[in-house]
Amino acid sequence: MRTLIKHILAATEPNDSVVVKAWVRTRRDSKGFSFLELNDGSCLANLQCVVDAATPGYEHILQFTTGASAIVTGKLVPSPAQGQKWELHATKLELIGIADATYPLQKKGHTPEFMRSIAHLRPRSNLYGAIFRLRSKLAFAVHEFFQSRDFVYVHTPIITASDCEGAGEMFRVTTLKGKPDDKPEHDFFGKKTYLTVSGQLEGEIFACALSNIYTFGPTFRAENSNTARHAAEFWMIEPEMAFCDLAGDMDLAELFIKSLAKYALEHCPEDMAFFGKFVDKGLNERLKFVLERPFVRVPYADAVDILLKSGKKFEYPVAPGQNLQSEHERFLTEEHFKSPTTVFNYPRAIKPFYMRVNDDGQTVTAMDVLVPGIGEVIGGAQREERPDILAAQMAFHQLTPADYSWYADLRKYGTVPHAGFGLGFERLLMFLSGVSNIRDVIPFARTPGSAEF
Ligand code: 4AD
Ligand code: MG
Repeated sequence: MRTLIKHILAATEPNDSVVVKAWVRTRRDSKGFSFLELNDGSCLANLQCVVDAATPGYEHILQFTTGASAIVTGKLVPSPAQGQKWELHATKLELIGIADATYPLQKKGHTPEFMRSIAHLRPRSNLYGAIFRLRSKLAFAVHEFFQSRDFVYVHTPIITASDCEGAGEMFRVTTLKGKPDDKPEHDFFGKKTYLTVSGQLEGEIFACALSNIYTFGPTFRAENSNTARHAAEFWMIEPEMAFCDLAGDMDLAELFIKSLAKYALEHCPEDMAFFGKFVDKGLNERLKFVLERPFVRVPYADAVDILLKSGKKFEYPVAPGQNLQSEHERFLTEEHFKSPTTVFNYPRAIKPFYMRVNDDGQTVTAMDVLVPGIGEVIGGAQREERPDILAAQMAFHQLTPADYSWYADLRKYGTVPHAGFGLGFERLLMFLSGVSNIRDVIPFARTPGSAEF
């Protein structure tokens, strides 16, 4: 394995023989020597190389243009320049791959829209390098959070026959060719199948055996909402806990978000500082605030009251009994409470069948965590564990009981109160980086009308 710039820059003493393999960010020529800024994506910082005209390989210096790949051998010495501890005095220069004048990342300051059109090159920029390093670190932090608490990681299926959320937003998976006499029983699996919208139902099976579990994988939704917060393919983390109620669920959700925020600040300090400087000036302040205070918890009915009495003009009027719109969610968390806010006990009619019915018969133990800048980042619930009420819920939501017999069995054999939630990984990344469009925190976004790369 080669030594990465991140480690070269962390050196504690000079080193006479360092080999860097990286891409050229910039080159400046002076009389008798050149400066090369090299970056290999291992960290935000470039390694500055000073190349004397007498260095072997210097005869090709004009080809060391922005975007070219190179191997530079040299001596690591303290840098007299401001803001960098080390620089490399080259002893040998090798050009690996040229990048001609058509290389699109010549200049800084491209729009996010343009960068999406070159998603094959954008990870080579400062911003996208930082975002995807953060994404990687946080994926690891998710596992660390749950593994250190003895949650078992379960791989739930990507192809499924059941619609967990009941919202009818599933992508069909089929090998049928669209002939007039096609029937589901002739299809590959002998019935209609889809890409999963959630691993929750299968997650519940495992929680009702292994106690505390989590899933972490891709989920798919064919909702035609072309917003900055919706993707057709996104990653979700879904913990599920046996012998747990709604309060325990809200506690875990809050602890989880705080732990990930803390992890990002501790393990990606340079990239987080970069976001704070160039993406969202209020970021660090906001994250500190999130870490230090308990989240606000408010029942849905009270939240609706607050919205109705706010005197604020919303594009969509607040309708008691209906779903909160994203503008309502953002008003609650950004303007009213000025804090991450957990709204719970939603009307039964607007939430999926699996949520536990409260004693009032009208509401269910649903909870959504709303955060400033994003709105909903987590949706969860205590699950209905009583067989008769689950049956009534399925009838209420017009589901076919035969399709969910295995789900009902969990209530028939040793049923337990249990609860869990789903956190949208991209939405969390947006919250922690200040990046305002979901298309910019996922390597290759899938959104209505767009599946490039
Ligand atoms: O609220 P949702 O639909 O909840 C569920 O799927 C439950 N089965 C989770 C559970 O209880 N185990 O989705 C959970 C989260 C949302 O809060 C949001 O952060 C994210 O998933 N999400 C999306 N993220 C990006 N694009 C979309 N189209 C999303 N839809 C949901
Ligand atoms: Mg939701």
